[in-house]
Amino acid sequence: MSMLVKNTWYVAAWSSEVTCGSLLARRILDIPVVLFRDQNSVIGALHDQCCHRGLPLSMGKAESGGIRCGYHGMRYDREGVCVEIPGQTVIPKRACVRSFPVIEQHGLVWIWCGDIAPTAQPPAYPWHGEWIWKGGQVHYESNYELIHDNLLDLSHLGYVHVFTIGGDPKSHMNAEMSTKRANGGVLVERFMRDVSPPPTHVRINGYSQSVDRWQRIQFVPGLITIYSGSVPAGTLRTRGDQVGGFQQRVFNAITPETGGTSHYFWSVSHVPVPGNPGMTDTLYSDTVKTFEEDRVIVNAQYARMQESVDQKWVDLGIDAGSIQARRILKDLAAAEQVPRVVPVVLQPVTS
Ligand code: FES
Ligand SMILES: [Fe+2]
Repeated sequence: MSMLVKNTWYVAAWSSEVTCGSLLARRILDIPVVLFRDQNSVIGALHDQCCHRGLPLSMGKAESGGIRCGYHGMRYDREGVCVEIPGQTVIPKRACVRSFPVIEQHGLVWIWCGDIAPTAQPPAYPWHGEWIWKGGQVHYESNYELIHDNLLDLSHLGYVHVFTIGGDPKSHMNAEMSTKRANGGVLVERFMRDVSPPPTHVRINGYSQSVDRWQRIQFVPGLITIYSGSVPAGTLRTRGDQVGGFQQRVFNAITPETGGTSHYFWSVSHVPVPGNPGMTDTLYSDTVKTFEEDRVIVNAQYARMQESVDQKWVDLGIDAGSIQARRILKDLAAAEQVPRVVPVVLQPVTS
């Protein structure tokens, strides 16, 4: 079981999954969590386990002001405090369940399951709003590391995604690539010049000539964002954003469910293109296909790797980004294992 980073924001759900009056059960970092929306539409997240006899609270009912347990009717508010016990007036002090900080923004529900208070805000994703977008969700039978690896190394496109965003495998393997630490994580940039456009780009942009392609991949724990696309050959910029051509932004939030399974929330965004009303759906369905191909590969890879946990795998040049990301996750997880020492304040001796 891999060590998981706890003190960070993870996506718990799409906003649209948490509706008024219903309860959403989801395991995150191996903690059973129940998500709900109170009467003011504010989202709460509680440990999905009644403090009386342990029934999952998600088997109860959402009520105004919180959740009622489905066994003996204890009612909890958004902070996890028991506010009503049918049949008795005294509420024991210990009658509460753990609540988790949640923040809803840009169509996403972020959760903090760490054992210290949040040290930052969840990452902003303004493209959900400024651009047109559509998202999906995949469940992985794999730890989060292999999913990060898959997204940080896009040289696999030419072999795995032949019908969508692939293209000539050689041009992927020979891409100009730079990897550096940036924005609290890792930034990988890839440029491919004068290559044949992949099927998805042709479907969207009707290319008949070769193109220049780019991918800008930003990793921070819990999230990988990818800005990618193509422009007519010879017009690629190596600094800043591109102009024209086909451009997309892909959001990939990877949330550990357990040490060996993961939730994966993704979306694809694009600028509105007049005269191309089907663009969003084309991009969406091509991305569904693409990510299903990734899921099959990564699940098979994880299952096989579990049979050889002591094996030392061979690293290649294309792994530069994922090796950096692994190191960051490993260092963060290791730092969380170290017991925090409470500084002893020496009192001045008075006599
Ligand atoms: S188990 Fe929840 S009230 Fe008894
Ligand atoms: Fe892929």
